[in-house]
Amino acid sequence: MVYLDSAATGLRPKAVVDAVLEAMVSKTGGVHRSVNYLGDRATEAYEESRLTVARWIGGLENEVVFTRNTTEALNLIAHGWPDRRRVLVSATDHHSSLLSWGDSRTTTIPPRIDGRVDEEAIYKELALRDVAVVCLSHVSNVTGQMPDIESIVERAHHHGAIVVLDAAQSAPHGPLETQSLGCDFLAFSGHKLGSPAGVGVLWGKPECLRRLEVVSKGGGILQSLRGGEIRYKDDPWRLEAGTPAIESVIGLAAAIDYLRGLDCEQVVEHLKCLRSYAIEKLSLLPRIRLLSANEQGAMGPVSFYFEGLPSHVIARGLSDSYGVCVRSGFQCAEPLHEFLGIGPSLRLSFFVYNQVSDIDFAIESIRSLVSLNAR
Ligand SMILES: Cc1ncc(COP(=O)(O)O)c(C=O)c1O
Repeated sequence: MVYLDSAATGLRPKAVVDAVLEAMVSKTGGVHRSVNYLGDRATEAYEESRLTVARWIGGLENEVVFTRNTTEALNLIAHGWPDRRRVLVSATDHHSSLLSWGDSRTTTIPPRIDGRVDEEAIYKELALRDVAVVCLSHVSNVTGQMPDIESIVERAHHHGAIVVLDAAQSAPHGPLETQSLGCDFLAFSGHKLGSPAGVGVLWGKPECLRRLEVVSKGGGILQSLRGGEIRYKDDPWRLEAGTPAIESVIGLAAAIDYLRGLDCEQVVEHLKCLRSYAIEKLSLLPRIRLLSANEQGAMGPVSFYFEGLPSHVIARGLSDSYGVCVRSGFQCAEPLHEFLGIGPSLRLSFFVYNQVSDIDFAIESIRSLVSLNAR
């Protein structure tokens, strides 16, 4: 099998499977609750995992909140951020970013004519000084393009808004430097880095986390509930209601350790090379329309479609006849497809286990399917 759908979810390395198995066998206990040997081991492993994540993104442990995924992290911010003024999102982005904030206060910035984030339009809206939040994808899950985050952060802060980065697609491509990015919150999912599903990360500057209202309430977040008065724990535990996905959190730390062991610079370089090779090769196919380009800063997925050929037909044929897994659909970014006036697209995406030969095989398979369906 050739797996080229890692932007949807990454395959899990054996080191992760082993760590999860070990956790299930010998660390199944109630984190932060049970006063017993297994509870202690589970809590230790859970909090060590937080430290691993914090180091990976250049943050501190108390800045890392474990969530179920990127979507839940964005929703926690959307519902918990006390400044209820307008929120800017880009129509180029993922549904989870577009939908989390609710209709009434969201201004969706249409893409530029070429389908990119319209930074100038964002600056114009910011200048009106009634914007609380700018929420953007660090890297597009359709085109792989990266907006000018540095300038957006600078302008947003200048006009009194915070910046939330959806790092779901950038997190698997090497460590995220939260300090140099300058954003106020950042969210990503473990499963795209090779952890089990069910764990995500909400990172926030301490002063921003502190301002987040608790929207998910329940056990594990309280210091006391006496006489009807609630006293919450400190961050990040205040924001982690209920029993967390303990094994998945431990698996996320194992996935990060695995990536760190590979030499991050090489990983970044390898993924860049695969992407640019795929774009070069794909561009030679007949009737193809590429949505991604080889350009400065872009990383991750490569999307495209064939004129007059439904993307699902190609994806199904690739999987069933050639054992090649790709994504077909609107990539959870239907407004971008609508703006471009196109139907569902196909997407190839790569991770550390892919080789140039995977891309060659996939593209030759696509070539055969296109010519077969064109007859
Ligand atoms: C850019 C982007 N944002 C958000 C998400 C949502 O991630 P999850 O489904 O893990 O919450 C994805 C997943 O594909 C994504 O690519």
